[in-house]
Amino acid sequence: MIMQTIEFKELKSVNNPNSIHGIYPYRGKISAIDAEMIIKQLPKETKLLDPFCGTGTIVYEAKKLGLNSYGVDLNPIAHIIANGKINIPENINQLAKDVIDLVDKAKKLENVNEMNEDAKRHFHLQTANEIMRVYTFFNEMNDYVKSCFFGAISLTARGCNGYLWTSTSVGKDKPEKDYINFYEKFLQKVRKHHYPVNHYESEVYLGDARNLSKIFKPDTFDFVFTSPPYFDCLDYTSYYTKIVYNIMDYNRLEIKSNLIQNFKNYENDMQKVLNELYIVCKTGAKIIFVVGDKKIHNKLINGAEFFNKISPFKTVDIVERTYANTSSKVFDDINKTERKEQIIVWEK
Ligand SMILES: C[S@@+](CC[C@H](N)C(=O)[O-])C[C@H]1O[C@@H](n2cnc3c(N)ncnc32)[C@H](O)[C@@H]1O
Repeated sequence: MIMQTIEFKELKSVNNPNSIHGIYPYRGKISAIDAEMIIKQLPKETKLLDPFCGTGTIVYEAKKLGLNSYGVDLNPIAHIIANGKINIPENINQLAKDVIDLVDKAKKLENVNEMNEDAKRHFHLQTANEIMRVYTFFNEMNDYVKSCFFGAISLTARGCNGYLWTSTSVGKDKPEKDYINFYEKFLQKVRKHHYPVNHYESEVYLGDARNLSKIFKPDTFDFVFTSPPYFDCLDYTSYYTKIVYNIMDYNRLEIKSNLIQNFKNYENDMQKVLNELYIVCKTGAKIIFVVGDKKIHNKLINGAEFFNKISPFKTVDIVERTYANTSSKVFDDINKTERKEQIIVWEK
């Protein structure tokens, strides 16, 4: 495939609060502005894979821009949200009516399960009760509505604590909780994040990137674009997700232990993923990895060097950027580090 070089610009701002991606505050979400800028340069109707798709930012943006896009993630909440984004029902009036009916049924319930204690401590008791009422009907929701449900839980947890939580203080509780009407926030989310996307092919799988060739046939993809689990091994089951998992009584620690999370095995795991990518990519495919520096024991490890050592692909380009105004920047300010982000482009 003939293609010009891809350009990667420095980003000043990474947030667009009025996009579909504000549906849920997932940890480590890639900037949709960045994803869009990169995907715009890729040829339409090609096949793109994000093997660590999280909540589907890249998958959604690629579909929106006319590519056929596929994603894989091993964190169930991320899978539901990514699937919700690419399958939003088009008729918002009907959808809102269905959700209003669901809320009405929830309000009338006579018996409601108690919220798990670890989650309950973050909420006003009445808000917690409303969440559990709606949760009773969880299995009747489609994945888009489930995503709004998760998003509304996060928003009300923050609201019950005076909207004071920041990216570094999620879970820091105020002793007296404020009452936030969960039903209202839930409905607002359903309306606010309603951005149905076109009908280009798109699918996300709950699966392991170390076993991609079990999901996809060899020589399938023209492009891979991903931000892999971070070098400093962020916990993708913590933060607001921990609250959601506690409410749903999911075994969070088991989910966590299956993710690429542990720095000791990181190199082996990533090598497995890269070898699997080699199988499922076409010859000539371009593989774009957004990585970054890692500070271990006061030593800065360069992300691009680390990945190049274990990659079976030919390096085409490495672009280094300073972090835009994100939690990575906050981390750097707190820890007095000056880490950089690198975008690697490989070719098979
Ligand atoms: C940096 S995040 C990607 C975030 C995503 N770009 C977004 O915007 O939401 C890395 C993702 O890798 C996932 N992950 C970790 N180990 C995995 C594995 N073995 N297979 C598939 N996904 C995995 C995590 O659950 C997390 O969602």
